[in-house]
Amino acid sequence: MQIIHTVKELREWRKTAGRVAFVPTMGNLHEGHLALVREAKKRAENVVVSIFVNRLQFGQGEDFDKYPRTLSDDAAKLEGEGVAVVFAPDERELYPNVAQRYNVEPPNLQNELCGKFRPGHFRGVATVVTKLFNIVKPDAACFGKKDYQQLAVIKGFVEDLDFDIEIVPVDTGRASDGLALSSRNQYLSEAERAEAPRLYRELCAVAEAVKSGDVDYAGLEAAAAGRLKDAGWTVDYVEIRHADTLEVAHAGDKRLVVLAAARLGSTRLIDNLEIVLA
Ligand code: PAF
Repeated sequence: MQIIHTVKELREWRKTAGRVAFVPTMGNLHEGHLALVREAKKRAENVVVSIFVNRLQFGQGEDFDKYPRTLSDDAAKLEGEGVAVVFAPDERELYPNVAQRYNVEPPNLQNELCGKFRPGHFRGVATVVTKLFNIVKPDAACFGKKDYQQLAVIKGFVEDLDFDIEIVPVDTGRASDGLALSSRNQYLSEAERAEAPRLYRELCAVAEAVKSGDVDYAGLEAAAAGRLKDAGWTVDYVEIRHADTLEVAHAGDKRLVVLAAARLGSTRLIDNLEIVLA
């Protein structure tokens, strides 16, 4: 496995690499990331994993500075998975113009759900992923469904801007108590970690109610948010949306997703659950 730090070297390697599957990450890898790598391995002999903590997608007061940087541990894990290349550029390499002058601007969706609480976040994601796609030139790229809105934004610009890349959605990895795997789980205190699976349980409760025919989506959202608040969470949103467009869901829609974001102490957790009706 090679660890490459510059765009020039990565491009040299790419010239003779054949088919490539790509997993973009911000590092601090856990089982959820390794599941993405295993999916990527099924799609191409050569897997490239990028590790880059992207300042553009962090807002004021968010955890950019404290985001764990663990390159040597990450590299050891990736070597064990048979990854061909780890691409780990520094900030000057990826953003040589200190003020990034051109950005990829997602449509209105970027101001809804998580975007409402993290202004500019999805512009930062779309911009860095576009840059990484242009550098790595993958045939396929794997993204976790845990970041459901991020996946929708990426699928959207890949389609609208004609990137010739297969986007592969990968199911959310979960701990045995249901908590979605996330680098941010390590910020939780012991008591918060014990409480955290409630978020998934609430999503399951909403999904069960919808499956059994309840179409009062606003009522279900408010009830789930209320129960989380009663248990000490600060709730950003619980929303039922159309699974493909992320538009507001209506009775009669068959493919739905319930998405939630809420804080336990200072840690913001997100999760979601797809609901397919017969
Ligand atoms: O999901 C992530 O880890 C990041 O948002 C991504 C896709 C690597 C872009 O920085």
